Amino acid sequence: MRSFILNDEKIDCHLPSGTLLLDFVRYHKALKGTKIGCREGDCGACTVLIGDLVDGQMKYQNVTSCLTPIGNVYGKHVVSVEGLNMEDLTPVQQFMVDESGTQCGFCTVGFVVSLSGYCLSNSAPNYNDAIASIDGNICRCTGYKSIERATRKITNALQNKDTEHTVNWLVEHKFIPDYFLDIPKRIEALNPVEEKITKAVLIGGGTDLYVQKHDQLVDKEVGLVAHQNSLRYITAENGVCTIGGGTTVTDLLESELFNSYFSNLSDHIKLVSSSPIRNISTIAGNFVNASPIGDFTAFFLALNAKITLSENENERTIFLKDFYKGYKDLDKSKEEILTSISFVIPSSNSQFNLEKISKRIHLDIASVNSAISIAITNNTIETIHISAGGVGPIPSYLHRTVAFLKGKTITAENIKQANKVLQSEIQPISDVRGTETYKRLLLRQLFYAHFIKLFPDQISLKALI
Ligand SMILES: Cc1cc2nc3c(=O)[nH]c(=O)nc-3n(C[C@H](O)[C@H](O)[C@H](O)COP(=O)(O)OP(=O)(O)OC[C@H]3O[C@@H](n4cnc5c(N)ncnc54)[C@H](O)[C@@H]3O)c2cc1C
Ligand code: FES
Ligand code: FES
Repeated sequence: MRSFILNDEKIDCHLPSGTLLLDFVRYHKALKGTKIGCREGDCGACTVLIGDLVDGQMKYQNVTSCLTPIGNVYGKHVVSVEGLNMEDLTPVQQFMVDESGTQCGFCTVGFVVSLSGYCLSNSAPNYNDAIASIDGNICRCTGYKSIERATRKITNALQNKDTEHTVNWLVEHKFIPDYFLDIPKRIEALNPVEEKITKAVLIGGGTDLYVQKHDQLVDKEVGLVAHQNSLRYITAENGVCTIGGGTTVTDLLESELFNSYFSNLSDHIKLVSSSPIRNISTIAGNFVNASPIGDFTAFFLALNAKITLSENENERTIFLKDFYKGYKDLDKSKEEILTSISFVIPSSNSQFNLEKISKRIHLDIASVNSAISIAITNNTIETIHISAGGVGPIPSYLHRTVAFLKGKTITAENIKQANKVLQSEIQPISDVRGTETYKRLLLRQLFYAHFIKLFPDQISLKALI
């Protein structure tokens, strides 16, 4: 049975798994608190919480219900604003009112749900984390200052939160209704069976597919990749890190193992989309979407990652850099599932950097991006991989630039020469994100930025320009 809990109600779902959660909540259950704004994951008006039972405790994340197939919530707890409401306003709602954090009100539910999700996290209260939890919510009326003040008050009100027993504390202090206390048992009782992936369209988080093919999916069965727990893992063995094909961006961000390889991981990841999108979107979806500016594609190309593709019993592993044959043309059959991603764990003398330029810093896709991994011995480049996005029809691995730099020393002259090679192997086109000349200039700057950031004692901007 395809069951889940919506607020305090058990749902036995008979709709196609591609039905959008937003439509189910609003049209099938008539819960109109959840709003429809953009239907593209940008505004946050449709935010709900999804709670998953992890090691006996519920873990809640805010998500955009406008891009979430209902199949991805089987066995989970979905919370709309109605599921937070009680006789009196909750402290989150009250602080929003007190600080004039709401005017027309259209965005307010999304903010309240995201901030309530933040309260439900088991981490110690912290204003910056609270603000980060609303990075996917847009308000066109208030100018945000009043919402920031409300967020400060919410953080202060959580100061004595018992993070060992978060739900109990929140119930006691009337942040959430008391039915939350029974949810772990009720979720366990649902006993969800992992559905076999069918031949239908494969879906990770749906954050690309529903923007592009909404009408073709909403009344169909879909192949739920990210819903397979067996495909959500991050492991390390024999010097190789392997990531399951259903792993989400937030899974990476929260993985101690993955963080141990990249000192600035959270800085890199926070440049990508927003929390509600990162909570559902998968790394595999970023690769298969084949956007020339996919940020995780650039990230993993620079790790010289491999991917494993499976169809029934057949399995093959190829380099990610060989996956892209032309614009949106992949070395992949329709039925093949990207089941895992692997890369050699960076050595202790290895460094990594990701750069991204977009029109806005947050919640925007790249005009140009680039990543590098580089290992140096005695000032000589031993291993190097560089990627670039937005400068050709496919996400690019810079083969010639890499070959030029291997074995060279880190000097400004070598990097300037390498830029000439780099410029000869990219093919940017003029489009809405900029002219060809502008993109060439951007990539040069990002390429130089890698070396200035990673080798500040040897390379300065002055020496390069
Ligand atoms: C508001 C918003 C902001 C965004 N910002 C960014 C950004 O800053 N940077 C960026 O790179 N992207 C961004 N994206 C795009 C998107 O979120 C990412 O590309 C994401 O990683 C896609 O993952 P998904 O699981 O949601 O993909 P889905 O939409 O589920 O799938 C994408 C494609 O991959 C296929 N697929 C998914 N999983 C598998 C699998 N395991 N095997 C085979 N095929 C599979 C699907 O069939 C589909 O063709 C943004 C999207 C939105 C809506
Ligand atoms: S309706 Fe705008 S993010 Fe969902
Ligand atoms: S109060 Fe009107 S959009 Fe935020």
